[in-house]
Amino acid sequence: MRVLRTLVTGASRGIGRAIALGLSRLGEVIAVVRREEQGRELAAEGKGCIQWIQADLADRKSREGLLRRAEELFGPIDSLVHAAGVAKHLGLNATDSAFLLEHMEVNFFSGFELARDLGRVLVERRQAGSMVFLSSTLVVRPASGTLAYAVSKGALEVMVRALAVELAPHGIRVNALRLGAFDTEMLRRNREGDDEEERLQRLAAMHLLGRLGEAEEAAQLAIHLLNAGFATGAIWTLDGGLLLGPPGGL
Ligand SMILES: NC(=O)c1ccc[n+]([C@@H]2O[C@H](COP(=O)([O-])OP(=O)(O)OC[C@H]3O[C@@H](n4cnc5c(N)ncnc54)[C@H](OP(=O)(O)O)[C@@H]3O)[C@@H](O)[C@H]2O)c1
Repeated sequence: MRVLRTLVTGASRGIGRAIALGLSRLGEVIAVVRREEQGRELAAEGKGCIQWIQADLADRKSREGLLRRAEELFGPIDSLVHAAGVAKHLGLNATDSAFLLEHMEVNFFSGFELARDLGRVLVERRQAGSMVFLSSTLVVRPASGTLAYAVSKGALEVMVRALAVELAPHGIRVNALRLGAFDTEMLRRNREGDDEEERLQRLAAMHLLGRLGEAEEAAQLAIHLLNAGFATGAIWTLDGGLLLGPPGGL
């Protein structure tokens, strides 16, 4: 099955944007954006293959009925990429439930609601489909100050496996992409006050390949997974060797 019309969250920049642009060369894309100007800009770059819809995924009211609204405007959707994410760093003592919830709303709950609603309509239509969620190596190798983010992505990975089991009998596949550090605004923003370049170099050196990933590299695998007919319920790692630790010898 090749996906036909994909809803992509987080499409305004970084990895989600690279996925939306890559997918627009293969089919139709509905980009979820927070601001109209982001949508207009993407649509212009997508040359007729990218439409957009506005929602603040942190706001339950704003994201309510998002899938239904998108289908009313643009027609039936058969796949989903949930790339929207927030990542803020905070020490353990300052981390409270509200901070955890802030991460859960965008990283987890908004993805869950879209997946549930898409699963439901695809089953009703007896139509095959595919979903990809973006996760992080921080789930299995947390760093100090990343508890809230890691917890939200851990929940996402568990959800992916549970959804895959529920939806496989209906021909709907669900996968996660577990990423190392990629050179996007998220990476550059999330530790204000640090010596940025020094920090990024240190981070790059933690990967066996000695560099950060590029958004297009993550997009390539996400698009491949979306269309890979035998892939479901799996957490695919793309981390430049980060989980094997820094390069070294005996
Ligand atoms: N970069 C990495 O090293 C890395 C590593 C592991 C996993 N990931 C995951 O990969 C995904 C993409 O990350 P990235 O690096 O491309 O991040 P990014 O450059 O910070 O982009 C984040 C995207 O999420 C959107 N977003 C955030 N909050 C939103 C909200 N309330 N409503 C609607 N959209 C919202 C942003 O929209 P606005 O432009 O409106 O803010 C933006 O499009 C995320 O899920 C991230 O957790 C990234």
